[in-house]
Amino acid sequence: MAGPISRRSTSASQPVRGSRIVVAIVIGVLIGCILALLYPHGLFSGDSDSGSEFQNRRLTKSNLQIGSTSCESSERVSMLKADIADLSSTNDELKKQIRELTQKLQAAEQKNGQAEQQVVVVGEPQKAGPFGTVKGIRTNPTVLPDETVNPRLAKILEKVAVKKELIVSLANSNVKAMLEVSVSSIKKAGITNYLVVALDDGIVDFCKENDVAFYMRDPDEGIDSVAKTGGNHAVSGLKFRILREFLQLGYGVLLSDVDIVYIQNPFDHIYRDSDVESMSDGHDNMTAYGYNDVFDEPAMGWARYAHTIRIWVYNSGFFYLRPTIPAIELLDRVADRLSHPPPAWDQAVFNEELFFPSHPGYIGLHASKRTMDRYLFMNSKALFKEVRKDAHLKKLKPVIVHINYHPDKLPRMKAVVEFYFNGKQDALDAFPDGSG
Ligand SMILES: *[C@@H]1O[C@H](CO)[C@@H](O)[C@H](O)[C@H]1NC(C)=O
Repeated sequence: MAGPISRRSTSASQPVRGSRIVVAIVIGVLIGCILALLYPHGLFSGDSDSGSEFQNRRLTKSNLQIGSTSCESSERVSMLKADIADLSSTNDELKKQIRELTQKLQAAEQKNGQAEQQVVVVGEPQKAGPFGTVKGIRTNPTVLPDETVNPRLAKILEKVAVKKELIVSLANSNVKAMLEVSVSSIKKAGITNYLVVALDDGIVDFCKENDVAFYMRDPDEGIDSVAKTGGNHAVSGLKFRILREFLQLGYGVLLSDVDIVYIQNPFDHIYRDSDVESMSDGHDNMTAYGYNDVFDEPAMGWARYAHTIRIWVYNSGFFYLRPTIPAIELLDRVADRLSHPPPAWDQAVFNEELFFPSHPGYIGLHASKRTMDRYLFMNSKALFKEVRKDAHLKKLKPVIVHINYHPDKLPRMKAVVEFYFNGKQDALDAFPDGSG
């Protein structure tokens, strides 16, 4: 760059250069005058603020939309906003109150049916703290419980849930034998907040006989027609549709498949800081918690290494959802995709919706997520390939074991019960690592 410019300036002759300078100054002054008329507040100040101006406009627009839906609640919204503004100017003690008000504000905005367009206002803009002290929001506010979505279910949950949380399993008679093992382990572990969504009469009878809380959906309910008339893929979306109502009613739900043995109470071991907290299909720390996987393309020479981010999928047979808008959005996205072609595996869809970022033509889900401890929430690959062969790991007491990696589920579940409850040290030995 410097070369051509300096060469040009030295080669120009003196008189021509002088008159060019005068012309340039005159043109500059003229442009200055024109700009002063067009932009009385300055060219650059307007430019640098255009981002926030745009945001303000968006905020105003969303306020107007809320206002047109209901005057009364828009008044409430602006009152709450004013309260938040007041509070945020004072000190740290008020942070909790701000959070509560923000939750109320969000709830009020959701009430106006504006959940899709809502601008989440979390207090007034604040300055970032010193290095190392800033933390983004990860724990979203819970929804305002809405009993009108299913009063009958609301009554059941009131009885079954503990601290507004419960385990939910869907079952039909095909999986009754596994349900039996799972339920008996749940009882032995002292867990009371457990509910079976009974998909047929056989399971209703089983629950009655075994004193297990159950919920059978109303045959007139819309989702039942999906179960009956829909194909395989519509039915696999059922789980996600049913869970929605639990969250809408304000409950935290631990979805549990029936091929799971409980050894401890999972509610003593979850963090509750994320929208989605799930067990992993990973088999070591890297695959369960994420790692930098380097892709090598020698033909690229200097740039032969491309770095990738990898994580083994979350298991869609055992996950905890807080009752938040992002968690409900996840359920809706998965159910929606499973009800339309192309056919897809629910676990793949669950993970794609959870992890793919926004990109051109696509808005990604903004949900916070946490991978459960892989030894406490253990998959059957970890147990049979690693844990049972390691003297130290063998002594650890998992919270659950999920027989997700093996087709001979029932005998392996029974062996897990023998091993962890009855102390039978060789109970796991007969099985091959894989399905053989
Ligand atoms: C795996 O992760 C756990 C939890 O973060 C940690 O305590 C443990 O040391 C890790 N193990 C290895 C082998 O890195």
